[in-house]
Amino acid sequence: MNSIKENYPLRHHNTFGVDVKTRFFSSPNSIEEIVALLENNKECFPFMIIGEGSNILFTKDFNGLIVKPAIKGIEVIKNNQEHCLVKVGAGEIWDEFVEWAVGNNLGGVENLSLIPGSVGSSPIQNIGAYGAEVCDVIEKVNYLDLESYDMKSASASECNFEYRSSIFKTHLRNRTVITSVVFRLSHFHKINTSYGNLNEEVGKTGVNDIRAVRYAVIKIRNSKLPDPKITGNAGSFFKNPVVGTEVADRIKESYASMPSYTLTGDMVKLPAGWLIEQCGWKGRKMGNAGVHERQALVLVNLSNATGMEIKELAVKISESVFEKFGITLEPEVNII
Ligand code: FAD
Ligand code: EPU
Repeated sequence: MNSIKENYPLRHHNTFGVDVKTRFFSSPNSIEEIVALLENNKECFPFMIIGEGSNILFTKDFNGLIVKPAIKGIEVIKNNQEHCLVKVGAGEIWDEFVEWAVGNNLGGVENLSLIPGSVGSSPIQNIGAYGAEVCDVIEKVNYLDLESYDMKSASASECNFEYRSSIFKTHLRNRTVITSVVFRLSHFHKINTSYGNLNEEVGKTGVNDIRAVRYAVIKIRNSKLPDPKITGNAGSFFKNPVVGTEVADRIKESYASMPSYTLTGDMVKLPAGWLIEQCGWKGRKMGNAGVHERQALVLVNLSNATGMEIKELAVKISESVFEKFGITLEPEVNII
């Protein structure tokens, strides 16, 4: 049985590198251990589940129990001529799973290379990048229901996946522990290089396969995004706002060059990074927190920033974007 640690530092459990503590911490490595931990330690509550802490901003110490599931394993559960179903433990590192898939010539997750975090968190906000979303390859999500303590499964359609959202962020928020995810990977690859300069980068490798896509995605990401091991951050701090075409058209009257992506149903996605840059925030500092100089959507911990400093910077940015464009930015990061 995994022990419960007391007054445990979280600096290495959140990619912002915020120096906070939790009253109790445990990292159980099986479903049985998670159930026993939660059933037998209610005096340590409230509790919170974390993965790799790459989408969390702690604004103060956590006065309760932090549970980091460490369920491991990558298991092929079905294989036919077209597809391979793979069950992956929640505690596996997402990018190690992508490397495993590409190394085994299984397609579907290569565009999602180098996204930090655990496999268990991947369905929660339906991780996405470079023209792909994890919902494209999810067969089902296995989870512990924290009301009944029963194990349940949600099929992809039951997960209500949307842009940066799923049932685990809405109806089932804080009511489950995801224990494993089953992915449907493919033997016949659909190479998707339509996003940004991905096609150009893949072209430079001279091959057009999933390994080349993984290589190109990693190269682009490393050129744009700060490495959390060096500069604390949680990727995009805000979601890209989705607005009606009339709102986008109104902004385009003054800013004809604004990039935008047309969605179905007269909706348009606007790049929050562009909106923030137009407000003059790119590369700016506020105390120990700042806005990354190459990607205005990424807030960074410049040196020992507190979670409150980062949160205050986020509030100021949202206020400017609202003042200039009348658009409310919604945080992608979970603020605790
Ligand atoms: P955590 O941050 O630990 O947790 C996130 C949320 O999930 C919390 O609410 C937590 O309570 C809950 N949770 C975690 N594990 C479980 C579980 N097993 N059961 C139930 N609830 C759980 N995201 C993208 O979508 N696309 C990107 O391109 C991208 N790029 C990034 C780049 C950088 C440099 C960084 C730092 C982050 C980026 N992100 C991106 C965000 C982040 O990688 C994802 O949100 C990732 O899925 C978070 O995983 P995690 O394990 O770190 O989750
Ligand atoms: N842009 C600017 N200024 C900036 C940043 C971006 O003008 O400072 C413009 C770019 O020129 C481009 C557009 O905004 O025209 C989009 O930029 P980019 O391709 O960098 O993507 P993004 O919309 O900023 C989203 C995701 C990322 C994901 C990338 C690649 C969200 C909130 N963010 O960023 O995901 O990696 O696309 O697909 O959807 C994350 O969620 O943490 C994350 C990093």
